[in-house]
Amino acid sequence: NVQSPISREERIEKLQGLGSSRKRVEDARFTQGTGNYVDDIKLPGMLFGDFVRSPYGHARIISIDKEAALAVPGVVAILTAEDLKPLNLHYMPTLAGDVQAVLADEKVLFQNQEVAFVVAHDRYAAADAVELVEVEYEELPVINDAFKALDDDAPLLREDIKDKMEGAHGPRKHHNHIFLWEEGDKEGTEQVLNNAEVLVEEKITYQRVHPCPLETCGCVASMDKINGKLTLWGTFQAPHAVRTVASLITNIAEHNIRVISPDIGGGFGNKVGVYPGYICSTVASIVTGKPVKWVEDRIENLTSTAFARDYHMTGKIAATADGKITGLWTHVLADHGAFDACADPTKFPAGFFHIVTGSYDIPIAYVGVDGVYTNKAPGGVAYRCSFRVTEAAYLIERMIDVLARKLDMDPVELRIKNFIKKEQFPYQSALGWEYDSGDYHTAMDQATKAVNYPALRAEQAENRTAFDRGETRNLMGIGVAFFTEIVGAGPVKNCDILGLGMFDSCEIRIHPTGSAIARLGTISQGQGHATTFAQIVASEIGIPAEDITLEEGDTDTAPYGLGTYGSRSTPVAGAATAMAGRKIRAKAQMIAAYLLEVHEGDLEWDVDRFQIKGNPEAHKTMKEIAFASYNQAIPGLEPGLEAVSYYDPPNMTYPFGAYFCVVDVDVDTGVTDIRKFYALDDCGTRINPMIIEGQVHGGLTEAVAIAMGQDISYDEIGNVKGASLMDFYLPTAVETPTYETDFTVTPSPHHPIGAKGVGESPNVGGVPALSNAVNDAFAHKGLVHTQMPHDHWRVWQTAQRLGLTG
Ligand code: CDP
Repeated sequence: NVQSPISREERIEKLQGLGSSRKRVEDARFTQGTGNYVDDIKLPGMLFGDFVRSPYGHARIISIDKEAALAVPGVVAILTAEDLKPLNLHYMPTLAGDVQAVLADEKVLFQNQEVAFVVAHDRYAAADAVELVEVEYEELPVINDAFKALDDDAPLLREDIKDKMEGAHGPRKHHNHIFLWEEGDKEGTEQVLNNAEVLVEEKITYQRVHPCPLETCGCVASMDKINGKLTLWGTFQAPHAVRTVASLITNIAEHNIRVISPDIGGGFGNKVGVYPGYICSTVASIVTGKPVKWVEDRIENLTSTAFARDYHMTGKIAATADGKITGLWTHVLADHGAFDACADPTKFPAGFFHIVTGSYDIPIAYVGVDGVYTNKAPGGVAYRCSFRVTEAAYLIERMIDVLARKLDMDPVELRIKNFIKKEQFPYQSALGWEYDSGDYHTAMDQATKAVNYPALRAEQAENRTAFDRGETRNLMGIGVAFFTEIVGAGPVKNCDILGLGMFDSCEIRIHPTGSAIARLGTISQGQGHATTFAQIVASEIGIPAEDITLEEGDTDTAPYGLGTYGSRSTPVAGAATAMAGRKIRAKAQMIAAYLLEVHEGDLEWDVDRFQIKGNPEAHKTMKEIAFASYNQAIPGLEPGLEAVSYYDPPNMTYPFGAYFCVVDVDVDTGVTDIRKFYALDDCGTRINPMIIEGQVHGGLTEAVAIAMGQDISYDEIGNVKGASLMDFYLPTAVETPTYETDFTVTPSPHHPIGAKGVGESPNVGGVPALSNAVNDAFAHKGLVHTQMPHDHWRVWQTAQRLGLTG
């Protein structure tokens, strides 16, 4: 070897492995307009689909007249529920064990529900025809208030299941009831509450919002009748699950279905479920033998695809007079809309809401969740959150502040007093979770020092005095949130979706010249997997990240996996990647031993090579080993160097963080200026610090959107308010504050590289930090809790209610 030796540090740096802020390899494509999204798929003879949708929130369909629409030049077909019935496709299974109308069957249950599917030679003809389909409706009374949905005289919404009093999650106690799901010790908790020295209770709503990815949902279905193959390109966060479900629904054998998720412009949970557009495009392609494209517009996305939250929560905390929490009782009225299409693991109809004890050592707790139907769009997805963790974190973090007010105690001090201690991990929560690792005191300590918390409180005291003296019209609010997330579903024994176990996978193939391709069961929607997963491979097998291609999203090539949502990619597929890398390294060690004529045990791994212990000059690099694996006959070994790992995680991972937010509220206008936002995240081993920072910035901006303005509400006759970006709040650069990010590192003890997920943490922790800040601004004026979103109008109303406006 004539090359001049490079130092060990240089070899490590060259890999750009774990811990490297390697630049995103995806961005060259994205910033130069060569991304390949669903709408970029253009096939010869492709047709276009568009929906006729209901203008009513609740109405009976009397008749549908297609005649005028069919006369529009270019229109090929118009599907209604009647056309789908013979195929038994007018209803489809939801991820939550319910069924959802693909095209409205006899009645509509929410505004903009799909009623008919027009197929035409171009999008414009389809849109023109949509206008001409005449549907006669008879209006029915609308229920959009989850509390009224269970009244005795509430109108019956789901006639299709009116006699089915046993749902997917147990008995239904009312015609609009879906399930009651309980966890924990109800009686014991109530006893603790009854005997509490201090008791607080609050009703806290997490309003209905929408993930609103920049790219809306869509697909192209192409049935090749000659070869019997169906190809589906779509905005799918779980392509393999879509393939299996499509096979079960259509009876097309799974090997004859290929599902491809091309580039995806943001998912945030919105692209997990199955939508009528996918089914109708597929049916239309099977019927016409032509490819059919369907891409929804912004209003369709906001009003008919999966919403998030809509949880009406009641929290009760029992505590001692000096602030030790002794019990937590919670109840949720969960508004699921017209069909239960929530995307949660099967066993958990309220997702992981029972992480609601948060970061605190609470000895006893109870959770009860009642799901109800209303005349709203279905969904209930994990909008950048791990299955209702966000709602849980919001409830507990608001309740801790409510308790702090009651005790007249500092909210940071109260949190610290009740934190689970470092030495208690792995920690068994009262609601059944085993937290893998954490060091909350260190994180909070670092955060309070970084923001100089005592100085902030001193400044606030001055501000309050100045306000009372009439010297300022601004009130300063300080919000703190300390959240614990739970991410990385599986394990398979607890977590499945529609019976599909939630493991994930990675296959790595090393090429003879020492570069590689890795394929995963996940799919990036902007998170930068091609960058970061290559870093895991690089560190495991010693091949530079830049020499590793990463591929996801094609079910014909990628190993089976359950996809990307709930920050599960790193905890599950990231672990599979490390394990596949280790299998490769194990074979490489045998090859190196043969090449160096020593016993395997005489070798040690060093960055990118196996070397003889005590004699590092005698070594074989992974590149040399790769070449030999293909080109040299090695006794007892098959040629080649590749491995696949299917990883079923033994537990979830529990990232956490300490967030601080400072706001100035103008009481005369309600305008709330986010002056400071500090986010400390602990996601265990950090793969790519720059990407983590980007994830945190993005998630915090979504948190700002939710806490300060997003709201999908309905009027009393069922019209969606917030149906377009004129009304639904998406912060621009103008409204987005500057964020300060920070971190601690507490590795996960069970993850092969110690990594936990991070993608959702900022959304989970950001919302309570912001909401706590706004509530805190008015705390000295007697405010205990005010509902989100804290837009200018609502904040001004709060100020007015408290008698503070001019
Ligand atoms: O499942 P999803 O990709 O949405 O979330 P994630 O697993 O939290 O990962 C989001 C991005 O952050 C990915 O590119 C990860 O590889 C990266 N990440 C990281 O660099 N270090 C971590 N400890 C966790 C995530």
